[in-house]
Amino acid sequence: MLIETERLILREMNFEDFDALYGILSDAETMRHYPAPFDKAKVKSWIDRNQRRYKEDGFGLWAVVLKKTGEVIGDCGITLQPIHGEMLPEIGYHIRRDLWRNGYGSEAALASMKYAFETLKLSAVYSYMKYTNAASYGVALKNGMRFVEEYDDPVNIKTRVYRITREEWLNRK
Ligand SMILES: CC(C)(COP(=O)(O)OP(=O)(O)OC[C@H]1O[C@@H](n2cnc3c(N)ncnc32)[C@H](O)[C@@H]1OP(=O)(O)O)[C@@H](O)C(=O)NCCC(=O)NCCS
Repeated sequence: MLIETERLILREMNFEDFDALYGILSDAETMRHYPAPFDKAKVKSWIDRNQRRYKEDGFGLWAVVLKKTGEVIGDCGITLQPIHGEMLPEIGYHIRRDLWRNGYGSEAALASMKYAFETLKLSAVYSYMKYTNAASYGVALKNGMRFVEEYDDPVNIKTRVYRITREEWLNRK
């Protein structure tokens, strides 16, 4: 699996990406909307889990590589997530903090969305986040997702859900 955009490559993550991913996922500000930043064990299991997803589901969170430098600057991709009691395909993303607001998050998410509709032939994809995560829903809105609902959740207090359907994707072009 390899997706190329104007500035990025999305490819399967592996243990050679550990240091780059640990740098991103252990950062307190980046993980502000999560229960806690990831420690080394959590990053290892993050890589393990995504490698399992590639085999079992045919997709997962991929490493985001900046073409200009070859560095891994984040992760982005599609995973099955429990959203309001249902397992649904979700587009998720983390970008290295010093590179925020350059459009990389939305570029990677849009490429994942294209893959979801054109390769996986999914009928809809979702993004969900803690209600305070404006950057996360900013990416969803920028890429044409629409607000679906906000529900109470013990981890996030309130979880917001955004979605784009295949029909909306096709009409968007
Ligand atoms: C969410 C995240 C990946 C966005 O990455 P990014 O590369 O900075 O996003 P983009 O530059 O593509 O921003 C897209 C839009 O989102 C909105 N946005 C991004 N960051 C924002 C912020 N801090 N506050 C408010 N809106 C924001 C803007 O509308 C932006 O468009 P604009 O720059 O044209 O105004 C990044 O903020 C991140 O890694 N956050 C921490 C991890 C996380 O919470 N992931 C989501 C878990 S649910």
